Amino acid sequence: MTDIDYLKRYLPSSKLEEALKRLEDGEPVQYIVGEVDFCGIKIKVNKNVLIPRFETEELVFKTINYLKQNFKKELKIVDLGTGSGCIAIALKQKMPNSLISAVDISEDALSVALENAKNNNTDITFYLGDLFEPLTGKYDCIISNPPYISLDEEVMSIVKNNEPHLALYANNKGLEYYEIILKNAPTYLSDTYLIAFEIGMNQADDIKKIAREYFPKSKIVVEKDLQDRDRFVFIANSK
Ligand SMILES: C[S@@+](CC[C@H](N)C(=O)[O-])C[C@H]1O[C@@H](n2cnc3c(N)ncnc32)[C@H](O)[C@@H]1O
Repeated sequence: MTDIDYLKRYLPSSKLEEALKRLEDGEPVQYIVGEVDFCGIKIKVNKNVLIPRFETEELVFKTINYLKQNFKKELKIVDLGTGSGCIAIALKQKMPNSLISAVDISEDALSVALENAKNNNTDITFYLGDLFEPLTGKYDCIISNPPYISLDEEVMSIVKNNEPHLALYANNKGLEYYEIILKNAPTYLSDTYLIAFEIGMNQADDIKKIAREYFPKSKIVVEKDLQDRDRFVFIANSK
């Protein structure tokens, strides 16, 4: 579907003229329409949050599969860097007995996430803060799609000019957040756990190395997306 068809499909004709002008000015159609479908759920988006990507839906489905197969109890899950709240809300809808927390450092992003949780009738505990900083207690699953674009990487102008840089870029070849999360995760994990990451397509080897350092005895698995690119890392132990 072209961007113009997308606008025609999702907006009333009274809003089309202004929408086409915004499109011409380089704004992503998702921000113009103001919402996207994520795992079958309506998620509001604006310039304060990353536009949820297809790969992230895959991360959610793969994580749910793993959790359903390996855990037979009420789960505690935390989504680090929740943005629009899409991951946390989809998990709660598909695993209603789980207790879900979600953290973001951006107050503006969190207010979108809160609105999305309310619109989707999902009970999620949101925290404003820096990764683990607002958290106490233990989690069975840590899931995250953190910022992972290296500061010197070429990024499409529609992304660079519109989406929040706080959601995109990370130091140390884009690995900064994976390292911080993996270093601190042992304090926040239950005895049996899963860490589920979305990653950049050239980061698998580096992230495996970092994971091996902090989780020497765990199973570390890289999985591909539908386009056959390494896009997910799962770190798990089992009883
Ligand atoms: C790549 S976006 C992911 C958003 C959403 N989870 C998704 O998958 O569409 C990363 C998110 O991490 C947040 N973030 C960046 N630094 C953070 C930090 N130090 N602590 C918590 N959240 C952070 C950003 O505000 C952004 O919402």
